[in-house]
This record gives sequence, C-alpha cells and structure tokens, in this order.
Amino acid sequence: MRELKLKKCLSCGALVKVIDDCHCKCGIMCCDDKMEEVIPNSVDASFEKHMPLYNVSDDATYVRVNHVMEPEHYIEWIAFVNDEVEEIHYFKPGDVAEVTFNYDKGTLYAYCNNHGLWKTEIK
Ligand SMILES: [Fe+2]
Repeated sequence: MRELKLKKCLSCGALVKVIDDCHCKCGIMCCDDKMEEVIPNSVDASFEKHMPLYNVSDDATYVRVNHVMEPEHYIEWIAFVNDEVEEIHYFKPGDVAEVTFNYDKGTLYAYCNNHGLWKTEIK
C-alpha cells in the first residue's frame, strides 16, 4: 500500500509532500541543508491524543482525533491514503478534528503542528 511521504526542514519548518523522491545524492534541500523525512508515530507524545480514531460504515470512513484545537497547538490536517487515492482535509484552531472520507480501505494520517505525523491503518 502506498504511503504518505513528507520531508521537513529543521531550520525553517517547511513541510513538503514527496511524490517522487530525489534520485541523486543531494536529497531535497531547504535552508542549505537536506530536508528530514517525517517518520509517523515517532514523537514522544500522547498516543491517545494524536492517533486517528475511525469507524467504517457503508464504504465510508469517519475519522476523529481527540486533540486540543488551540491556536498554538492543533491538528492541521487528516489524510486518507491508499493506492488510488490521497485526500487531505485541513483544519484550523477551533474546529473539531473530524472528517468523513468516502473510502474504506487505506491508511489514515493526522498531523499535529507540535507533535508531527501520526498514522494508523484501517483494518
Ligand atoms: Fe499535539
């Protein structure tokens, strides 16, 4: 199954989605340095507050992340990814981090502005 691949600049915080990664030795550069791949579920933070929770019914997937949605700390987006589809729903502070995708087989990602990328596979 296809994965979402992100790279982040550790200097300025730029975040990019990689469609086809660099095939030479330079990597993808930002601020004169190689961007780092963002590894899901790798930050030391509450699993319960970041992991996308889901419920599948009628070929659709309802997703929620039980996380604060304050201006300085919130879930920026939730994504659904499989081999055919990649869909991202964006949030702003004050929203509820919930969305329904019209697909049922794939991987869910949530991105916290402070605690990075979280991932779970729909079983
Ligand atoms: Fe967080």
